[in-house]
Amino acid sequence: MAASGPWGHSASYLAGALVAVLLSGLAQPHDISRRPVSDLKIDQALLQIHNELLNENLSVSWVSDYCYQCLAQELSFVTMSSIATAHVDCQHAITLIVNSSPNGKELCRTHYHFGEFGNYSLIVKNPHSSSLKVSCDIVINQNPINSYLPIFIAVLIYLGFFIILRLGLCLLNIEQVRNWLYKKMNPRETDRLINSELGSPSRTDSIGGDLPVGVWSAASSLHRLRSLDTFRGLALVIMVFVNYGGGKYWFFKHQSWNGLTLADLVFPWFVFIMGTSIALSLSSMLRRGCSKWHLLVKILWRSLLLFLIGVIVVNPNYCLGPLSWDNLRIPGVLQRLGCTYLVVALLELVFAKPVPESSSPEARCPAVRDILPYWPQWLIVMELQVVWLCLTFLLHVPGCPKGYLGPGGIGDFGNYSNCTGGAAAYIDQLVLGAEHMYQHPSSNVLYLTTVPFDPEGILGTINSIVMAFLGLQAGKIILFYKDQHTQIMVRFFLWSVVMGVISIVLTMCSKDEGIIPVNKNLWTISYVTTLSSFAFMLLLSIYYLVDVKRMWSGAPFFFPGMNSILIYVGHEIFEDYFPFKWRMVNPQSHTEHLAQNLIATSLWVFISYVLYRKRIFWKI
Ligand SMILES: *[C@@H]1O[C@H](CO)[C@@H](O)[C@H](O)[C@H]1NC(C)=O
Ligand SMILES: *[C@@H]1O[C@H](CO)[C@@H](O)[C@H](O)[C@H]1NC(C)=O
Repeated sequence: MAASGPWGHSASYLAGALVAVLLSGLAQPHDISRRPVSDLKIDQALLQIHNELLNENLSVSWVSDYCYQCLAQELSFVTMSSIATAHVDCQHAITLIVNSSPNGKELCRTHYHFGEFGNYSLIVKNPHSSSLKVSCDIVINQNPINSYLPIFIAVLIYLGFFIILRLGLCLLNIEQVRNWLYKKMNPRETDRLINSELGSPSRTDSIGGDLPVGVWSAASSLHRLRSLDTFRGLALVIMVFVNYGGGKYWFFKHQSWNGLTLADLVFPWFVFIMGTSIALSLSSMLRRGCSKWHLLVKILWRSLLLFLIGVIVVNPNYCLGPLSWDNLRIPGVLQRLGCTYLVVALLELVFAKPVPESSSPEARCPAVRDILPYWPQWLIVMELQVVWLCLTFLLHVPGCPKGYLGPGGIGDFGNYSNCTGGAAAYIDQLVLGAEHMYQHPSSNVLYLTTVPFDPEGILGTINSIVMAFLGLQAGKIILFYKDQHTQIMVRFFLWSVVMGVISIVLTMCSKDEGIIPVNKNLWTISYVTTLSSFAFMLLLSIYYLVDVKRMWSGAPFFFPGMNSILIYVGHEIFEDYFPFKWRMVNPQSHTEHLAQNLIATSLWVFISYVLYRKRIFWKI
C-alpha cells in the first residue's frame, strides 16, 4: 500500500488502532470462535444421515428455499442401516428430500434452517415397523454458533466510537478545555475541524467567518448541496464494503438472481445521484456562460476517461503477467457510468432550458414546470425504454424461450440451463464476445450457472440511463424550486410514491413471480423504479437533515462523496494490499471477514477525510 505521501503516517496509525480495537472487540467468546468441525466451510453445518431402514438404500438431495424452481441437488447416498455425513448450506432454509435408491421413489422430505457450524442428525426410520410410512426427523447434536453476533458487536463498536467523538465535542465546549486547546492550535481551524466532523452548526460561521464549504451560498454560483455528496458517499461506502466481501454474509452480497440485498441497492443510487449532479453542474456552467460546444467536448472527454479507467480497473491481473487482449473484460461499473453519463448529459445539454429565476405567473401549469418544458427528453427516454422492452421480450435467442428473464443453470427445473440472462446475455455475446464478459456472475453460486453473464452488460445500460434520468429530474426539482424546501420535499415524496406504485404493479409484490421481477443482474425496469423510489425517499431524508435543518453535516459519508472516483478506483486497485486485506487466522469465520472488510471500508473513509482536509479532489 502506498504508505508514502502526506497522509501515509496517520493512515497507518489509524489502521493499527482500528485493527486493535476491532480485533479486541471481536475477541471471541468461545461461542463464535469455535473452529469448524471436520473442515466445514463458512455458512455450513454438519449433517449425519442415519438410515435406520432395514431394506432400503437412500439417496438424499437438497434444494434451497432461495433457489426459485430449482432442481434438487444430490447430497449423499446412504446404504441400509448405516450412517453418512454431509455438509449442508445454512444461509437459507433448505428442503431435504429422501428418495429410495435406485428406484427413486420419494420416501419423505423435511424443511429446515440449519445454523452455522451446528452438528445435526437426520433420522430416517419406520416409526411403526408394521406400516410402510417413513419419517425424517432432524435432531440437534451440537448447537450452531450465532453467525450474526459479529455484526452486533461491530455496530456496538461503531456506536461506541461515535459516542466518544460526541463526548469529546462536549468536552471541547467547556471553556477551560477550549481555551487550553486554542492556545495549542489555530482556533478557527480546530473549531471548523470538530464541527465539520460532528455536524453541529459552526460557531465561527455564525459569527461571520469563512463560509461553510458546500452549503447553499448565494455568493457562489456553484450551489453545491451537501446532501448530494452525503448521498453519494453513503452509496460509495456501502459499495466499498460490499465489494470487499461484506463479511461473507449473504445479505451483504449480491442476490443470486431476483430480489434485493443491501449490496444491490448502491450502484443504482450512485447512478441516480450522478444524474442529479449533471442537472446542477450543467445548469451552473451554462449560467456562467460556458458555450455548449465547450461542454460537449467536456462531456465526451469525461465519458471516455470513465470508460478507460473502468477497463483498467476491472482487469487487474498485472501481477499475473501481461494482460491478455483475448479475455479482456469490457463492461464494468465505471464503463456503465461513463456510457450513462454520456447519454444523460448530452440529453440535458441539448434540451437544457434556462431555469426561470422565480415562479412567473404566466408560465403554463406552474405545478409541473420542472417536467413539461422537457418533454422531448421524456420522449427519448420512453423510446429507450421501449427498445429495452422489445429487445428483452421479443428478441429471438437461439435455444431459449422468448423473453426469458431467468437465471438458467438448475433454475426453471434445469430446462434452460444455458439461457442465463436471456436476451441481455445474448446481445453481449454477439457484440462483445463471451470472453470479454464477466465470467463469475452471482447466479453461479445458487443456480450453478455455467455460461458467462455480465451484470454491467449493454442492455442493462439502457435502464441505467433511465435511472440517471430520474436522478436528473431530482436535480431539476432542486434547481426549479431553489430554496423552497417544502416544494422540493413534496416533489421528492411524490416521485417516490409514483415509482413505488409502478414497482408494485410490475413485481406484483413478489420476488420471482411478478411480470418483471426486481433483478440487479439484468437491471430490469422494476429494479430501476424500486431503487429510484428508495432513492427519492433517501434523498428527501438526507436533504431535510443536512441542508434544511442542518442537523447533520453528512459526516462521515460526505468526505468519500466529495472524492468518489478516487475512492472507487483506489478501493479496486488496492483491494488485495495490506492493510485492506491480510491473511486470516481462520478464513472460515464471519468474524474475521467482517472485521477485515469493515476496517478496509473505514480506512477509505478516513483516507477521503484526509484528502478532503488537504483539499485534494480527483476530478475528471
Ligand atoms: C444397497 O447398496 C448396497 C451397496 O451399494 C448394495 O450391495 C445393495 O444391494 C443395495 N440394496 C438395495 C436394496 O438396493
Ligand atoms: C456430531 O454429533 C454426533 C452425535 O452426537 C457425534 O457422534 C459426532 O462425533 C459429532 N461430530 C463432530 C464432528 O463433532
